[in-house]
Amino acid sequence: MSKTRQNLGLLFLLQLSQQITDILSHQSDRKKDHIDLAIASKTLAHEKDDRFNYEPLFAVHPSEQQDILSFFINKQFGAPIWVSSMTGGTGIAKNINQNLARACKEYQLGMGLGSCRKILFSDEYLSDFAMRPIIGDQPLYANLGIAQINELIANKQIHVISDLINKLEADGLIVHINPVQEWLQPEGDIIECYTPLQTIQELIDKLDISIIVKEVGQGFGPQSLEELMKLPITAIEFGAFGGTNFAKLENLRDPKTDIIDPICFVGHDCSEMISLINDKMLNANGQYQCTNFIISGGVRDYLDGFYYNSLLKSNSVYGQAAGFLKHAHQNYDQLAHYVEQQISGYKFAMRYLIPKSR
Ligand SMILES: Cc1cc2nc3c(=O)[nH]c(=O)nc-3n(C[C@H](O)[C@H](O)[C@H](O)COP(=O)(O)O)c2cc1C
Repeated sequence: MSKTRQNLGLLFLLQLSQQITDILSHQSDRKKDHIDLAIASKTLAHEKDDRFNYEPLFAVHPSEQQDILSFFINKQFGAPIWVSSMTGGTGIAKNINQNLARACKEYQLGMGLGSCRKILFSDEYLSDFAMRPIIGDQPLYANLGIAQINELIANKQIHVISDLINKLEADGLIVHINPVQEWLQPEGDIIECYTPLQTIQELIDKLDISIIVKEVGQGFGPQSLEELMKLPITAIEFGAFGGTNFAKLENLRDPKTDIIDPICFVGHDCSEMISLINDKMLNANGQYQCTNFIISGGVRDYLDGFYYNSLLKSNSVYGQAAGFLKHAHQNYDQLAHYVEQQISGYKFAMRYLIPKSR
């Protein structure tokens, strides 16, 4: 055997023995981790998430290729997830919105912009909101508060809403209804002249646009839900009680008081709103025109989202605001990692969990 061949053989044996050592030490690290972490990993009976039956026998793990495509408000979604309306018109907003829009395009999600009031009559902050070039064909909705729309109607300026949607190349408008927030906000707008329902009806009559109606942390009661479901609007977003609550936020901003107003704690949470809608759908007889829902307000993660989407007997996606914000104001990679976790968790849940009906 030549010297060169002998050396090559020796090199191969050395590499092989290194690989075996690595594998064994990795395994022994894992075993050591198990011993070290066993006590810290104890769970207590009362911590059990009791919303599901866990059925481990009947599925294989989800693969990268498994898709959970859904069709919602005439668009394809890569996962039934919505980025709820947040920010704009302030220093860091542009970067946050750009990260969110990029994630929506990459993972095929939908996005509501934060209040676009600042760009109704001026384009100074337009670039904070102009996300169409980034989000591609995914749903993008402009956003205005009910008091603002009310004022535009009273001043015969409703046409600026169409202008807003055109300049943003948005798919439509989200109307946020927030009488408690406006009431507690030191510089809040008073809802005058028209009730929110009259204002929405006027919008529908005057403008041919897609409309989504939402709350901002209190949700909607049975009568409001029913009236909204009767309207030819595209979707209803819960903005339910149990998560970020803008009434409380405004109360905390008020320098004149350090008392939390009890009105902050009224409202309806996601579970309650789902039950209300299911009850109505049971005897619907085709009387409802709006049967698309964005379940939001206190949705903590994919497991909440999966649970709520499964329980609602109508078309839905789940939405998060604060949950995305936490990651979106860092760098894009952190946000992308979070979204991937949500999607893969959702896929896993679909395979092994069956929500218990309420
Ligand atoms: C920083 C921030 C800004 C928000 N701004 C708006 C807004 O401009 N318009 C709106 O309709 N909702 C706004 N919301 C409310 C959210 O869309 C959502 O209804 C609410 O935060 C509940 O969802 P969450 O519990 O997942 O945060 C905002 C929420 C956050 C956290």
